[in-house]
Amino acid sequence: MKVAGIKYFALALSFANLALAKTLSPRSSSYYVDTHGAYAPYVANNYDMLSCALQISSTVTFCTSSSYDCFCGNEYALATMVGCIHYGKGSKFHVSHALKKKCKATGYDLSNDDMADAYYNYTTYGKTKAEIPGFSIAAITTVPFILNGTQTMLYRKTYGHYMRNLDNSLFYGSGMIAFWVVIFFLEATSFWSKKLFPRLVKKFTGPISMYWRKYVTLPATLQRKRHQPMTVFGIPYGMMPSRKESIVVFFWIALVFFCNSHDIYYTVGDVTLTSKRVAYLKYITDRSGITGTTLMPLLILFSARNNFFSSVTGINYNSFMVYHRWVSRIAFILIAVHSLTYYLYYLEQWSYYRQQRYMQYGIAGTLAMGVMCIQGFMYLRRNWYEIFLFVHIGLGCVAIAGGWIHVDTLGYKWFYYAATAVWCFDRGIRIIRLALFGVRKAEVTLMANETIRVVVKKPFYWPMIPGGHGFIYFFRPTYCWQSHPFTYVESFNQNTLGSIEMYMKVKGGMTHSLYKLLSKAPNKSKSIWVSIEGPYGETTPASRYDTAVFIAGGNGIPGIFHEAGALADPESKQRIHLHWVIPNLKTLSWFYEPLKALRNTNIEATIHITRPHDLDGLEEFEGLVEDDESGTEKKGSDSESFVTESAIVYRIQSSLPHVKFSFTKPDTDALVNDEIAEAPGSICFVSCCNPIMVDDIRYACCNALPANIGKRIDYFEQLQVWA
Ligand SMILES: Cc1cc2nc3c(=O)[nH]c(=O)nc-3n(C[C@H](O)[C@H](O)[C@H](O)COP(=O)(O)OP(=O)(O)OC[C@H]3O[C@@H](n4cnc5c(N)ncnc54)[C@H](O)[C@@H]3O)c2cc1C
Ligand SMILES: *[C@@H]1O[C@H](CO)[C@@H](O)[C@H](O)[C@H]1NC(C)=O
Ligand SMILES: *[C@@H]1O[C@H](CO)[C@@H](O)[C@H](O)[C@H]1NC(C)=O
Ligand SMILES: *[C@@H]1O[C@H](CO)[C@@H](O)[C@H](O)[C@H]1NC(C)=O
Ligand SMILES: *[C@@H]1O[C@H](CO)[C@@H](O)[C@H](O)[C@H]1NC(C)=O
Repeated sequence: MKVAGIKYFALALSFANLALAKTLSPRSSSYYVDTHGAYAPYVANNYDMLSCALQISSTVTFCTSSSYDCFCGNEYALATMVGCIHYGKGSKFHVSHALKKKCKATGYDLSNDDMADAYYNYTTYGKTKAEIPGFSIAAITTVPFILNGTQTMLYRKTYGHYMRNLDNSLFYGSGMIAFWVVIFFLEATSFWSKKLFPRLVKKFTGPISMYWRKYVTLPATLQRKRHQPMTVFGIPYGMMPSRKESIVVFFWIALVFFCNSHDIYYTVGDVTLTSKRVAYLKYITDRSGITGTTLMPLLILFSARNNFFSSVTGINYNSFMVYHRWVSRIAFILIAVHSLTYYLYYLEQWSYYRQQRYMQYGIAGTLAMGVMCIQGFMYLRRNWYEIFLFVHIGLGCVAIAGGWIHVDTLGYKWFYYAATAVWCFDRGIRIIRLALFGVRKAEVTLMANETIRVVVKKPFYWPMIPGGHGFIYFFRPTYCWQSHPFTYVESFNQNTLGSIEMYMKVKGGMTHSLYKLLSKAPNKSKSIWVSIEGPYGETTPASRYDTAVFIAGGNGIPGIFHEAGALADPESKQRIHLHWVIPNLKTLSWFYEPLKALRNTNIEATIHITRPHDLDGLEEFEGLVEDDESGTEKKGSDSESFVTESAIVYRIQSSLPHVKFSFTKPDTDALVNDEIAEAPGSICFVSCCNPIMVDDIRYACCNALPANIGKRIDYFEQLQVWA
């Protein structure tokens, strides 16, 4: 009974899905008794009745048309029907009830007595084929007919299997979705217990918790790489998920495999699917088409910016992107298998089916999904992000519309309603978010020739989420339709209090267009109308740890700084360390002011300069660092220039007395281990650097676990790379 167990497990878990499928499907009023309509709206108790209807229709004729009008209204047909459903062992109450219900819906209100009469007539007057002189299927029979019992059992078994496959496919699909409900539940439990019972979580420092985190939740799938792309011939083709994500995806795919192969077999003598080949083709095409369709709402949900489950479970957008990709790939494979097997099943009548509307839309949808899988290829995505996005959305519409029209006459439209609803909901919330922020004038400045600072006043009701991000729109003709994610920080400048600041690294797309615009502008600054869609993202639970270590690299600083700043409290006993790794001093110039503001906080900041001899762009500090020694010999000959420059370096350092400077590339392992050794109690690391360093920190934290049993060490990543 293992099989039944699994089925009921899926059944129980997919409660919501089922309830909806059941209420929305025309349960007992319309279903197909033919072998072509791939739709059995959860008919359960009717299987035996349907097999009898099919067997009677193909053996004997009672009326001019063989419908329930005949089965319920013609006394011989009814007697035959009742006799047929009562054939064999076991209680026939449910089947009998199903028949009465069906007859009632057809316009014949039969009582229990009528049914008993019919059965009496069948047993008393019934005749077999051999007993009717000159019997012919073409002639109208006027006596209850006793069917061949062996055949009745075969009809029940094989036609029942055929119908059950349609129904069960819905359950199998629901089981594939229920899997995610379980994952969400587990993630939410861990997420909320960290938030609500931080003390309890901190007690989980024993070997079991350590091994669980060292081998499952923390590491990258293999070795180190999580954020560095995997490459072939130097072409990036994908990112390796974290180990936890890989495990989740692995088990899900195993479940998908089970759900699409279980209970698919051929019975010798099958009454509708008359050969092994035909049976397999039909079962597989029905199963994969239905289970593939159930995934549609899910794969849209996973790609939505406004995903309710993200805030409930704490799973970030990055992980959802990993799941989005895998669910989509699997959905495509299922739909492609469906299309191919359908084609082979109807190969002989292909010229007819080819012209059917539902067929053409089905093909269009399948092809769109296939192209989406290819155009989402990392190399294309990375290099032409906007084109990728535009094409992806367009093809997504084609896939949804194609699938929708394809199943229009069947009951599976519901899944397309859901998919469309999720998509529209996301878009709607995005528009509301934009409207709430409004269109505002931002002061946009190119700083140090490498970073664009955006300062914009935010509405008072707009919540700041330390470590969160927003998608910014610049209302300029050539890129107003683009939205790019950036972390932000609350303004420290007295003149712009209540504003948010973004620090955008100049790259090749929209940021480059802004760069060209600003480098020509007076004072390299311009006011531009902008809007920000947000806030998105989550603050890491760093406040719950005795020591919080924040590590940022280059332009990763704003979010990290914001989070660290939000924790700063001279009264608290928490130790907060902030490390910022930058290539050269010039980079410091655009984040100089916020750093200065750290002076009276309990944040211990260290700036690591990896190329200390690169003294380019020191003029950026002019006007920032107070000229306490009144820059006397500022302009001198070449020989003096070095002295002058080191004097500036010295002045920069002394104007930030609360900040430690290190003039080497930090050794990630040593940094992590030193911090852990120094930490008196629990410690967490929060990082947002370049992919290599982020991967290194994760790796170092992971390796530090065994030697530190008894100390809670956690690692959080603020770096999100989904492109
Ligand atoms: C949550 C988050 C927070 C970020 N915070 C910052 C920050 O504070 N400072 C900062 O300098 N950068 C930040 N980034 C990176 C920033 O979004 C990209 O650098 C920017 O979108 C590049 O714009 P572009 O048109 O000039 O890029 P391109 O030169 O066209 O592309 C450069 C890279 O950015 C990726 N990219 C382009 N557009 C998008 C997009 N709309 N969404 C996601 N990725 C995209 C591309 O795939 C490519 O890998 C953040 C990214 C994310 C996901
Ligand atoms: C049973 O047979 C009798 C006599 O042939 C007929 O009058 C009656 O309608 C039948 N009952 C049912 C329920 O068909
Ligand atoms: C009933 O059907 C079986 C299988 O098709 C056949 O072998 C058997 O001869 C049939 N019985 C009668 C009485 O026709
Ligand atoms: C600014 O940077 C660009 C490349 O990013 C470079 O070509 C240009 O010369 C730089 N300008 C100055 C003034 O340093
Ligand atoms: C440029 O900046 C200087 C000093 O901050 C200011 O005096 C000047 O008016 C600015 N020029 C423009 C065109 O905004």
